[in-house]
Amino acid sequence: MATLVVVGTQWGDEGKGKIVHLLSKKSNYIVRYQGGNNAGHTVIFDDKKFVLHLIPSGILEPAKKAVIANGVVVDPSSIMEEIEFLEKKDIEVNGRLFISDAAHVILPYHRYIDTWIEQQKLEEHKIGTTKKGIGPTYADKVDRIGIRIADYIDDEIFDEILERNLAEKKVILETFCSIEDIRQEVYNDRERVIERLRTFVTNTSVLLNNVINEKQNIIFESAQGTMLDVDFGTYPFVTSSNPLSGGCCVGAGVPPNKIDSILGIVKAYTTRVGEGPFPTELFDELGAQIADIGKEVGSTTGRPRRCGWFDAVVVRYSVMVNGVNALALTKLDVLDSLSEIKICTGYKYKDEILNYIPSGRSVYKNIEPQYITMPGWESSTQGIGSYEELPENAKKYLTKLEELVNCKIAIVSMGRSREETIISDDCILDFSFGKQ
Ligand code: GDP
Ligand code: IMO
Ligand code: MG
Repeated sequence: MATLVVVGTQWGDEGKGKIVHLLSKKSNYIVRYQGGNNAGHTVIFDDKKFVLHLIPSGILEPAKKAVIANGVVVDPSSIMEEIEFLEKKDIEVNGRLFISDAAHVILPYHRYIDTWIEQQKLEEHKIGTTKKGIGPTYADKVDRIGIRIADYIDDEIFDEILERNLAEKKVILETFCSIEDIRQEVYNDRERVIERLRTFVTNTSVLLNNVINEKQNIIFESAQGTMLDVDFGTYPFVTSSNPLSGGCCVGAGVPPNKIDSILGIVKAYTTRVGEGPFPTELFDELGAQIADIGKEVGSTTGRPRRCGWFDAVVVRYSVMVNGVNALALTKLDVLDSLSEIKICTGYKYKDEILNYIPSGRSVYKNIEPQYITMPGWESSTQGIGSYEELPENAKKYLTKLEELVNCKIAIVSMGRSREETIISDDCILDFSFGKQ
């Protein structure tokens, strides 16, 4: 039996979708444990492209089972659209998808409040959310007025809880829309999805603990990344959940002593979509070039992603707080043409060098990234099938990153398809996930 948590180590979009899909061949269950349809996980195989927002990418591997656990926030309309999209592409979903009865639902008013709050903020305070209603739904959960799937599908209780919610939110909602219109929208959506939704709902914590007892393999797929974690990220420019590996236990109802390994996904450089600190951001032509080669456009909102150099402070911190056992590095190919590549090794703040992520907002404004420069390899990595065949300078770059972030790179990805991946022979993961 093996359980593996896959986490993003930067600001999301590290390529979790591709790597989870690749590894899911060796897993029985693939589980999402936090976030919602703010995520966009791209999987490309057999010349087909899928962008999944809620359902774990393992659903694309025949016979595997996909779980949306209690820590996820589920927009009922959005999940139904995703199910129908998969079915149109001949992916069987019935009997393979399980949705937690304890997951909270995103309702239309959460989306409206998300948009409205962002509009009210001064430019420098905007987070640049995906406007999917993620923050307001988690806020309701913590405020103990949220609606869980079990109650959403229960005719006896739903009306009453909805009315309580609408009454509590009346003051805000009435500043920009009509309560009656919202009520109608909630009921229209519910009527459209409820019958089908009920067929997927179960207690996923019980399910997953049984799966573990049966010694089957599970991959827990996080959304977002460590720097977007509400506790350890660049607060307040973060999402409203815990993408961290530790979030998996509460987000899936699986005890910490049942987690075997943590795989961190890391891009060969850094990107960020939305607002907030990004110390190694490139504002010049080179940043635009990396964005262009890497096709750095948000998978959920279509916004351009900001690009910058690899930030070893960020990844070292992520390795530490997630307990990462090994890294999968993606998008090495995007750096193929560069003559020089910089790596940020520390942040200069006043007379000190910071080796960790500061918590204070003012500190961010005054840090100066410290760089080392590595020679590029200026040749194509396309089609390379083993670590030994990589250009010497690419190997030196990878070795330097390992040294700076205190963690081995077990998987190297040099293209969007699963074939364009090297899995190291001395893969330190304690199972053979992903070996063909
Ligand atoms: P996720 O949110 O972490 O799953 O990442 P996204 O799917 O949002 O963004 C990653 C993007 O990079 C997707 O378009 C992938 O198809 C693409 N990608 C993944 N790995 C590689 C790689 O090694 N090279 C290149 N060029 N693209 C990659
Ligand atoms: P995946 O899983 C990158 C960012 C948003 C915004 C902030 C808060 O594809 O890596 P939210 O809507 O969550 O309240 O927005 O978080 N964000 C992501 N950035 N990848 C993601 O997911 C993201 N999910 C949210 O852009 O800055
Ligand atoms: Mg993404």
